[in-house]
Amino acid sequence: MQKKISILLKSKKIEEAKPLMKKISDNYKKLLDYFPENTKEGFKTEALPSIWENKDKFNALMQKASDDMIKLAKAIDTAEDLRAVQKELMWSNCTACHSRFRAPH
Ligand code: HEC
Repeated sequence: MQKKISILLKSKKIEEAKPLMKKISDNYKKLLDYFPENTKEGFKTEALPSIWENKDKFNALMQKASDDMIKLAKAIDTAEDLRAVQKELMWSNCTACHSRFRAPH
């Protein structure tokens, strides 16, 4: 979905990109509930056990990612550099969380 956003923004289809951002934001919030229910073992997963050991930190990153998607949906109305604003409000959050909580793949 994030790739789609990039493509839409590149072709200046800002209004079409906005609902996707909202959707991702909602998805992140759903994920907040998803991880505790998930069995930690016996699953082929790249999620590191440190998620459950650092749940507060993980949730904070997820919440930030969610909030930033909403900010991004607003920012693209006025942003001069769409790539830069995506990097700041979208991609940087992916890396911030993956570098800590996702196994190398
Ligand atoms: C708050 C934490 C967090 C944020 C923010 C986050 N991720 Fe992840 N992501 C994970 C974790 C943990 C996994 C491993 C999950 C698993 O394997 O069950 C993962 C796995 C993935 C995967 C591979 C698994 C799959 O479903 O195919 C992709 C692709 C991915 N993330 C993309 C992104 C992108 C793109 C963003 C930002 C726009 C992002 N993620 C933001 C935590 C996060």
